[in-house]
Amino acid sequence: GVTRHYQFDIRLQSITRLCHTKNMLTVNGKFPGPRVIAREGDRLVVKVVNHVPNNITIHWHGVRQLRSGWSDGPSYITQCPIQSGQSYVYNFSLVGQRGTLFWHAHHSWLRATLYGPLIILPRTNESYPFAKPYKEIPILFGEWWNVDPEAVIAQALHTGGGPNASDAYTINGLPGPLYNCSSNDTFNLKVKPGKTYLLRLINAAVNNELFFSIANHTMTVVEADAAYVKPFNSKIIVISPGQTTNVLLKTKPKFINATFFMLARPFFTAKGTFNSSTLAGILEYEIDTPPSESDLKNHTLLKPTLPSINDTSFVASFSSKFRSLNSAKYPANVPRKVDKSFFFTIGLGSIPCPRNQTCEGPNKRTKFAASMNNISFNLPSVAILEQHFSGKDNGGVYTTDFPVVPPRPFNYTGTPPNNSMVKSGTKVVVIPYNTRVQVVLQDTSILGAESHPLHLHGFNMLVVGQGFGNFDPLEDPGKFNLVDPVERNTIGVPSGGWVAIRFVADNPGVWLMHCHIDLHLSWGLRMAWIVNNGKLSHQKLLPPPSDLPKC
Ligand code: C2O
Repeated sequence: GVTRHYQFDIRLQSITRLCHTKNMLTVNGKFPGPRVIAREGDRLVVKVVNHVPNNITIHWHGVRQLRSGWSDGPSYITQCPIQSGQSYVYNFSLVGQRGTLFWHAHHSWLRATLYGPLIILPRTNESYPFAKPYKEIPILFGEWWNVDPEAVIAQALHTGGGPNASDAYTINGLPGPLYNCSSNDTFNLKVKPGKTYLLRLINAAVNNELFFSIANHTMTVVEADAAYVKPFNSKIIVISPGQTTNVLLKTKPKFINATFFMLARPFFTAKGTFNSSTLAGILEYEIDTPPSESDLKNHTLLKPTLPSINDTSFVASFSSKFRSLNSAKYPANVPRKVDKSFFFTIGLGSIPCPRNQTCEGPNKRTKFAASMNNISFNLPSVAILEQHFSGKDNGGVYTTDFPVVPPRPFNYTGTPPNNSMVKSGTKVVVIPYNTRVQVVLQDTSILGAESHPLHLHGFNMLVVGQGFGNFDPLEDPGKFNLVDPVERNTIGVPSGGWVAIRFVADNPGVWLMHCHIDLHLSWGLRMAWIVNNGKLSHQKLLPPPSDLPKC
């Protein structure tokens, strides 16, 4: 592989959407940010220079960061933020992954505007396991706020309640014609007849899972989270924040005089205020020779139909279609046995309202908190990875008593318990190098069941099982797929259901696991794994770079 250098200058840039102009954080003045492209086996060296007042970090979402945890990016987990006027060089190689990922800020809600595609092409002498597409098009879903998203989350955390919803969803930064004052900001994909296009779908939205469909066209899913999957066809794609999906789009054999709408709208199962609007982009045919008179008669406008907003069963059946390719070249390496098995409950609850705050949360005395095993995770004020690497004790930065059994058994998906209070802390799980881990992630209905896209840093998860209701430890493991489970870095824990995942802890460091809905993340729906060094030299975390930011 080769080394590819990029520079990210973080600056304020004036951007207008929906007739609102605001100064917002951008990378190199672009919104969405620049495309980072490399081949499998390459090294990426990205210098991030902070020219704005905010603290910044950048995360390379889905990149395994083998032994290079210092470049992972979540603030106070693997690094202190890059302060105003400072810079930091992220330096890592791309090993064993190819496909679409993305990069985004990993501090507060800055990823609302700081995100862009990260494309890993196959090695020079290798090809796709499908016919070479005519063109490749990145499609990034995002959200637009007329105000500063930092003010939105600050306000929500201060009042202890929910935040104001975004004003629009976007494709490549463009909200499209269904919003007021937005028809000039429409993503328009011009295609030629009889060709195959590779669409690199990326959900960079802050808080919403999305349905996506293109009128009168079927897509073939071929890759997810930078791992090939067994191809399957679908008219509708479900994509959660943090997930990426490559689809092939075969265009019709002949020119069609029509506007094909591509629509995206949230999938949402909870109560509460959120943005339920619809994003539209356009697909149109173009041909080299001018279309004939008859070709141009009868222009039609076509819209796809999307499932209803809370169609959990559609989502469950869609996600069960993903299987890893599991070919001779790309085998699914599923650990058949596990060394450690965990059960994590996931849910929304409350913590007491701090004394110096007036909370507008559910009953004024509490504020919203989200938790795993009833622990709402507080960020420390120095990076856990630095503290861990120093080899001293945990220095009061974190504790190693993350509960490995949930506090009290109850019917997770049944009637909510009377007590919705959770505890807060900075609790981690420590595991030895190469531990074969299984985690059952169980959604709970403490404050209403909701679907949660769980993201794991540093590893891909093999999704060996999923189901509705309560996980049954006697029956369900017998049905696990240990042959071709899909490999993902972000997996939707179904509303009122569970998923079971496995991974091998072959990457020493500190790795965050969290809900990729930023609101839930801000409410504490996160925990961290510490994977200790192995004995051999190639099983150890590399030393920290000299420019690692200080807190
Ligand atoms: Cu894409 Cu921890 O995040």
